[in-house]
Amino acid sequence: RGILLGIRHYCKKTPTKLRVSQALSGADLGANVKVQGWVRSVRPQKANVFLHVNDGSSLQPLQVVAGAELNDPLLTFGSAVEVTGSLKKSPHKKQPVELEADQITVIGECNPVDFPFKIKERHGLEYIRQFPHLRCRTNAFSSLLRIRSEATTAVHSYFRENDFVQIHTPIITSNDCEGAGELFQVEPSGPEIVEDEYFFSVPAFLTVSGQLHLEVISGAFSRVYTFGPTFRAENSQSRRHLAEFYMVEAEISFTESIEDLTKVMEDMFKSATEHVLAHCVEDVDLFHKHVTPGHRVSMLKCFILSTLRITYTEAVDILNRSSEKFTFPTDWGCDLKTEHEKYLVKHCGNAPVFVTDYPYDLKPFYARDNQDHPERTAAAVDLLVPGVGELCGGSLREERLDLLSARLEEYLDLRRFGSVPHGGFGLGFERYLQCILGVDNIKDVIPFPRFSHSCLL
Ligand code: 4AD
Repeated sequence: RGILLGIRHYCKKTPTKLRVSQALSGADLGANVKVQGWVRSVRPQKANVFLHVNDGSSLQPLQVVAGAELNDPLLTFGSAVEVTGSLKKSPHKKQPVELEADQITVIGECNPVDFPFKIKERHGLEYIRQFPHLRCRTNAFSSLLRIRSEATTAVHSYFRENDFVQIHTPIITSNDCEGAGELFQVEPSGPEIVEDEYFFSVPAFLTVSGQLHLEVISGAFSRVYTFGPTFRAENSQSRRHLAEFYMVEAEISFTESIEDLTKVMEDMFKSATEHVLAHCVEDVDLFHKHVTPGHRVSMLKCFILSTLRITYTEAVDILNRSSEKFTFPTDWGCDLKTEHEKYLVKHCGNAPVFVTDYPYDLKPFYARDNQDHPERTAAAVDLLVPGVGELCGGSLREERLDLLSARLEEYLDLRRFGSVPHGGFGLGFERYLQCILGVDNIKDVIPFPRFSHSCLL
């Protein structure tokens, strides 16, 4: 009995460690708890001091109420603290729970003069980008990271629920899948260097796409996907290109029409976006109200509706019928430039639009020839969205050995043994986030952006 009493006494004394989101849920009202986090605001009053503490688990901070004797000059905006006390119902509607503190310990001091963010000030995304080691402390960027994490989960859930197998495609590869020559070469820099010899015996690169490896595995698993870092040596300072980005790629065997593939793309966007809307209500709200208000139409709602489809030929007709003066040509066969994509999405109601059946010569070697079309087109599809342009690209793959042989020798063995009609697509994950949140610059939707002349931290 003595032991039992001792345990009870110990349990009563030892506070339960809670995340701020758990504390705010109200499930532990009355409990003796410990919360650790960073101070978001300090309001000393005569008899009390009020703190807002956050630990990244939610947008809402936890309000801490302490007697004035617990105030400490080191309790400043940005300092790290540990607070113990009991959770109480708060009289404030907006903030149903507060922590009545009986102890506050400053774990890490923060000099507010040197801290680049100021209390209650809203800093723009461009300003906070200058501080890659601290921007996760801002409301805007911490919301972004939580949304990014939920969207990642949503993409994996979609594929799991639809019987896709996740494949870890290699980061180091000897192929240039896209054939665009935007490769980073990989060689050791240390004592392993042997003059005139490649480490892998062949030139090796950081992957530009996992497609070819997915195609191999889809030859046995039918439905596969990958979601990982992808690298392109793009020497541009564009607001929609990174040197390192995350790509979601899927490959589906026994797919015979571009519409079947387009439907998978559409379903994936719908499912991921519904998940984000359901799980990130406060964070999405913050973006739309304060971070990118009216900056650009957010596409969140558009992705859960069905998306318009037009062919490339129809797209060119639309461009040619418009009174707009384009810098680049709009003849059939021309590449769709940013100005064309912008016009097309505007024409289609400022909403996403799938463009299918591009001229054969505009698409990579692996795209399937639409032999039944009067013009030579490929069974390829791009999803164009406002502000971002191309968000996702896919195609049926040319599975017919005789047609492909004219295009590329190395690809042939993939087609020799039980080759079936298949198709796949790739989605730039950062562009998706840019699009649903209306963020202008891609550098603001990835934790540590890499682009030419910049590899901070
Ligand atoms: O159109 P891309 O080059 O297609 C492929 O790589 C195919 N092999 C994918 C496949 O079918 N499995 O790239 C796919 C998407 C683009 O639509 C774009 O959203 C994104 O990847 N993307 C980039 N995102 C950020 N920075 C860059 N430099 C990007 N390059 C492409």
